[in-house]
Amino acid sequence: MTQQHSGWWRDAVIYQVYPRSFADGNGDGMGDLAGIRSRLPYLRDLGVDAVWLSPFYASPQADGGYDVADYRAIDPMFGTLPDAEALVHDAHDLGLRVIVDVVPNHSSDQHEWFKRALKEGPGSALRERYHFLPGKGADGELPPNDWESIFGGPAWTRVTDPDGQPGDWYLHLFAPEQPDLNWEHPAVADEFRSILRFWLDLGVDGFRVDVAHGLVKAEGLPDIGGDGDQLKLLGNDVMPFFDQDGVHEIYRSWRRILDEYPGERIAVAEAWTPTVERTAHYVRPDELHQAFNFQYLGTHWDAAELRGVIDVSLGAMRPVGAPATWVLSNHDVTRHATRFANPAGLGTQLRAAGDRELGLRRARAATLLMLALPGSAYLYQGEELGLPDVTDLPDEVRQDPSFWRASGQDGFRDGCRVPIPWTVEGESYGFGAGGSWLPQPEGWGELSVAAQTGDPDSTLELYRGALAVRRAHPALGAGDAVSWLEAPEGVLAFERPGGFVCTANTTDQDVRIPVAGRQLLGTDQVLVEDGEAVLPPDSTVWWGV
Ligand code: NOJ
Repeated sequence: MTQQHSGWWRDAVIYQVYPRSFADGNGDGMGDLAGIRSRLPYLRDLGVDAVWLSPFYASPQADGGYDVADYRAIDPMFGTLPDAEALVHDAHDLGLRVIVDVVPNHSSDQHEWFKRALKEGPGSALRERYHFLPGKGADGELPPNDWESIFGGPAWTRVTDPDGQPGDWYLHLFAPEQPDLNWEHPAVADEFRSILRFWLDLGVDGFRVDVAHGLVKAEGLPDIGGDGDQLKLLGNDVMPFFDQDGVHEIYRSWRRILDEYPGERIAVAEAWTPTVERTAHYVRPDELHQAFNFQYLGTHWDAAELRGVIDVSLGAMRPVGAPATWVLSNHDVTRHATRFANPAGLGTQLRAAGDRELGLRRARAATLLMLALPGSAYLYQGEELGLPDVTDLPDEVRQDPSFWRASGQDGFRDGCRVPIPWTVEGESYGFGAGGSWLPQPEGWGELSVAAQTGDPDSTLELYRGALAVRRAHPALGAGDAVSWLEAPEGVLAFERPGGFVCTANTTDQDVRIPVAGRQLLGTDQVLVEDGEAVLPPDSTVWWGV
């Protein structure tokens, strides 16, 4: 049975499953709900509190399922609605909660509304549910404004009307197959309230809200202007299509729905905002429960930077009473074992493998540091195996639409989506009986669950150990108190209530510090000499005091 402690989400460790790549139950090379269901005991044993499933809805898969054609149906490649119900039921029986993705910013171009909007032509009432506008220029041959798609190229596509003539343009902040919905239209808001209820009635414990910051566009869809690269502005400025104040009214209405249901159903915002302070707006007491901390995800393995972002994050959440969240990897960024294997500053979309051993050491240390922080932590499937990104996928197997739209200059998200290895040998290393939709690298089996289970030095056992300590000592994730202790340059040391100290050495040298207590868990066994502990390079230790 699901545990009923109140505020369960405040310190929950939530594991992201990318359904295409987790486990394949029917042997077609593509992960599915049956596969996930069969591996739920693994997640229970890992020690996570909840599972977040990326989209499994009916979809042409132009963007890995983030292009939804029917929000109430399961894509046949993933299974059926009864499979989803059974999965939620089994998870609850194992004490795991289930969060599903909801994708409200855009639908698929194969959604019934959009198909009819095109077919019925200009004047169709369905067109008002999207952003259809006439083009500029003498013959409407230019897009209505200068917005660019996040995936590259213009954010507008011109349609051909039923009479064969070029017609209006429609807005798509992502791929052309993902037309943006018009949230000013009451039917759109009504439809999503009904979709939330559909999944809540089925028993899910909450939602991860895709592009939560994008639903409302600035009045009149004004040009951005300037001659720079719009995507560069994204991180720093409030854009006319992101983080508009109007989005918050939507989340207030969603919160009222979530609160009607028993068992503390939650929502977590995927909201890319210029500052953590603006992220905090999404988690005010009458809005959503959590928001991903992408500033943390983007931080380098550097003590001063990490301390800064931890303080800023806790400080921003405190006034609104929401827990901080922490995340190092997800299905949109290069895995952190590969980010940390490369020089700082290369960003979160990498094609370079870097120094794998170094990357893994730092990734393990970064994870242990993250799991000592108060609040909720998100793990991405495979990081518990220390998986690197697959940086050498041949271009012809890539499916990330941004790779293709940006002419191969960007969009390496397939590298973190390669199906994960369960067994040392065998067909697709135990992913399934019928191969794997993206090729797995040679030797992937050595990183498998089977290879690491029972090996005390493995990354998998490190995660299991850390999550077991977190469960046994609820104080570790609770509250928002982090007391910094004096430490040499490049080392982080902080105390948490309940008698815990965490030390992290981010340098490439041994560093000696006074012994902080009894070693509970660490990325390395730490030598103690003359009352001093010798912290190895790129290591984290939890101490009991
Ligand atoms: C964010 C999702 O995480 C990403 O995978 C997707 O491409 C975009 N939103 C568009 O839905």
